[in-house]
Amino acid sequence: MKLNIVEKVLVNNPLRALAQRHFEVPRLKALGGPCPGAVALEIGGGQGEGARLIQSEFGAQQVISLDLDFDMVSRARQRLGERDDILCLQADCTALPLADASVDALFDFGVVHHVPHWPAAIVELNRVARPGATLYAMEVYRSLICHPLWKRVLEHPQHNRFDQDEFIAAWQAHGWTLLGQKRLGSGLGWLAMQKERHPAALDKAQCA
Ligand SMILES: C[S@@+](CC[C@H](N)C(=O)[O-])C[C@H]1O[C@@H](n2cnc3c(N)ncnc32)[C@H](O)[C@@H]1O
Repeated sequence: MKLNIVEKVLVNNPLRALAQRHFEVPRLKALGGPCPGAVALEIGGGQGEGARLIQSEFGAQQVISLDLDFDMVSRARQRLGERDDILCLQADCTALPLADASVDALFDFGVVHHVPHWPAAIVELNRVARPGATLYAMEVYRSLICHPLWKRVLEHPQHNRFDQDEFIAAWQAHGWTLLGQKRLGSGLGWLAMQKERHPAALDKAQCA
């Protein structure tokens, strides 16, 4: 779901970029470590600051930053300029234009809670992640999204929202392991997870 005008103002500004750099990135890096040389996918890249930080702070070699909203993609392209190491594209994270097992790191700076059928996003992200890939996520949860005040100001899908435990469990169901998590109350949190290195099907094939 695209952002309403209030949330666009909240995320398209220098303060948001500072919060990502000084507040969110250090937390995510402490939980999941850096990803030097990685091919990284960022969903819902917004104004493009996340892509810049994934490259400069996590050490990714190539960043593919996708957003559903072409206005956001244009803004990111304008802010980042021509770069070989960052590709900004318009795409929906429930239908990724990427091959199976093609990325080493997944970044979600507050995006999955905008997706109406969010488990479909996890299926897609799991599909494109290589065995051993790392997920870095900052998410916003049911207690904030469905709060009467925030419901009036911001626009999010209201049905079937999730809390941090449910978000973690959804990844675990695809064989991901929790590396670490932090919470700010019940409404906001950070986590890192890792996809299993040797999927069971592969292990069986190797034993046969
Ligand atoms: C809260 S903003 C976060 C933007 C940026 N990641 C940040 O941290 O500043 C959520 C972003 O996700 C995008 N988005 C929403 N639904 C999406 C989807 N299904 N696929 C890809 N991007 C989506 C929105 O257009 C928006 O740019």
